[in-house]
Amino acid sequence: MKSLTEWGGASLIELAERFGTPLYVFDEAELRRRCRRLVESVKKYDADVYYAGKAFLPLAMAQLVSSEGMGLDVVSLGELALALSAGISAGRIELHGNAKTEELLSRALRLGVGRIVVDSADELELLGRLAKNEKTPPKILLRVSPGIAAGAHHAIQTATDDCKFGFSPAQLVHAVKRAADLPVVLAGLHVHLGSQIDRLEPFFEGVQTMVDLLASLKNACGFEADEMDLGGGFAVRSPEGPLDAGDFIEKICLRAKSASSAAGLRLPRLSFEPGRWVSSPACVTVYRVQSVKETTSGRIYAALDGGMTDNPRPCLYGAPYSPVLVSSADERKEGTVTLAGCCCESGDVLVSDAVMPELRRGDLVALPDTGAYTYSMFMTYNGAFRPAVVFVSSGTARLVVRRWNEGDLLKDQLGLEGRQ
Ligand code: LLP
Repeated sequence: MKSLTEWGGASLIELAERFGTPLYVFDEAELRRRCRRLVESVKKYDADVYYAGKAFLPLAMAQLVSSEGMGLDVVSLGELALALSAGISAGRIELHGNAKTEELLSRALRLGVGRIVVDSADELELLGRLAKNEKTPPKILLRVSPGIAAGAHHAIQTATDDCKFGFSPAQLVHAVKRAADLPVVLAGLHVHLGSQIDRLEPFFEGVQTMVDLLASLKNACGFEADEMDLGGGFAVRSPEGPLDAGDFIEKICLRAKSASSAAGLRLPRLSFEPGRWVSSPACVTVYRVQSVKETTSGRIYAALDGGMTDNPRPCLYGAPYSPVLVSSADERKEGTVTLAGCCCESGDVLVSDAVMPELRRGDLVALPDTGAYTYSMFMTYNGAFRPAVVFVSSGTARLVVRRWNEGDLLKDQLGLEGRQ
């Protein structure tokens, strides 16, 4: 695909004029199709699915995933507030995080959040202390880092021996015994291997390792898990083409079933937490080209009106994107162009050496597959305004997040005088 005119049935040129650029444009039908695929796949195995809000969570998205029957994984007071304003019942919320504050845990307890995924011995103690005042003890899972390296980049591998998340297998027996003495209900274990995993093998390895851990816990202290959350991490595509996370989930469930019965365990109720797979492919981000120039060394730069502030992924992980010209003008010659962001540093490049129709000032460029970890990782560097988010359904666009303006940047500033 070298050029694109529509997304979700709406003209991108019209949307850019109406809402400004940069602009995140989501095809709502695609979001819903993906949610439905996941819900359908877990139903077959009486498993459950929580959308990982960290991928993309404006209020509209929280409402959408909930209307499709998914639960929600949140990690902060902010995401919790979004979930609640979307009308999601506390029981359908799972709370994550490796550094939960007392304020966050107290709020979760007061609300009766469905699952708290405990990440450390310190958190377990704190939760135990806070839960003493609760009528109903919270349901918890213990997060484990079983020592598996899976994920497309070291920064998004989350289950290695050396990572900051969860309990090491060696700490588990103690944690399970300790939980039994506290006013909590230990429902089971949790693991999230990493992100952008495009093969089944790491998931199978994860399942086997977790089942082995459950078997050793049963031996060591008689603990039998009712639940096991296997996290998210499904890539959007594999080298063979688009990846169907629903198919992966079904195969993982089957594997978990056979591994459990081989170990003489009853199968815990499984759950999954995909983020990227749901939101990323449903979105294109549209930018306007502000200038095109050639350097002394012969590189052509097209400078866009956004960049690392609305999509830090190329800078953080070297994430590749395939830009397209928003136009039907396919008579243009092709050339090689580097899409530079507008921030004041040379590293702010969204795509290096892309081959695409030659660009001119005023053109619109779209970056497909930008619906995950872009809006949610937005930063205000260089005084950037957060772009608007538009959902398109059957060709009709609705603004679901308005674009920031000067007022949004100034509203928290108390000036030199400050406030005593
Ligand atoms: N569950 C837990 C506990 C997680 O930490 C994550 C992602 C997910 C589920 C969802 O993973 P997904 O299905 O989206 O891969 N900013 C990085 C990705 C960080 C992922 C963090 N955890 C990026 O832009 O690639």
